[in-house]
Amino acid sequence: MQKGKQLYEGKAKRVYETDDPELLIVDYKDDATAFNGLKKGTIVGKGVINNRMSNLLMQRLEKAGIPTHFVKELSERETLVKKVSIVPLEVIIRNIAAGSFSKRYGVDEGVVFASPTIEFSYKNDDLGDPLINEYHAYALKLATPEEVDTIKKYSFEINEELKAFWKECGVTLVDFKLEFGRLKDGSIVLADEISPDTCRLWDSKTGEKLDKDRFRRDLGGVEDAYAEVMKRLTEHL
Ligand code: TMP
Repeated sequence: MQKGKQLYEGKAKRVYETDDPELLIVDYKDDATAFNGLKKGTIVGKGVINNRMSNLLMQRLEKAGIPTHFVKELSERETLVKKVSIVPLEVIIRNIAAGSFSKRYGVDEGVVFASPTIEFSYKNDDLGDPLINEYHAYALKLATPEEVDTIKKYSFEINEELKAFWKECGVTLVDFKLEFGRLKDGSIVLADEISPDTCRLWDSKTGEKLDKDRFRRDLGGVEDAYAEVMKRLTEHL
């Protein structure tokens, strides 16, 4: 597959055209940002890990009946994906209180919920990805009620699949962010990535953070944490 013109450069990935109008190439960088790009850094080897991990998890989700944009891993950092129009919603599923949930509602990190929560942010860097509810999404014409229903159904199914898989790896899935896209025929598929950049992953025994919070909070051992979760994942495939 021929890599064509660069279409877009995001904080962690670049996207390229291909000779097929329905397919794109995603190229994962080692760049890391936090707090809407205010904090910048590099996590050496992150692009390789996030590419591989996201692809392995998406293939697993496909087997469980969740449609994704994944087509084929092309190299250590590059993946062929279906072209989608991204639904401008960041979907966050939480199993355990942490991060902005703990801060917003005054709940200690680590409090386990009776059932998972879902929230939506309007994907808009200029506005700082504000939290919205589904009625705001309809008013802003970000998605239709049918699309939001599909996105919610897929998101909770993805949570069950990923929670069970990470548990086998000795890792607790605390929370994560998903993005969905529309294919040419209008159907909704999981897009973007699933990685330690977009999930909170805690060692099930020690509670040690094995995700991007190590970078966000200057905890050190960032590269080692990414390598450790990747090792656990590949050992349990
Ligand atoms: P939060 O607690 O900061 O709202 O984050 C919830 C989850 O979403 C956490 O797993 C990290 C992930 N996340 C992203 O993937 N991108 C973002 O821009 C933010 C703020 C969070």
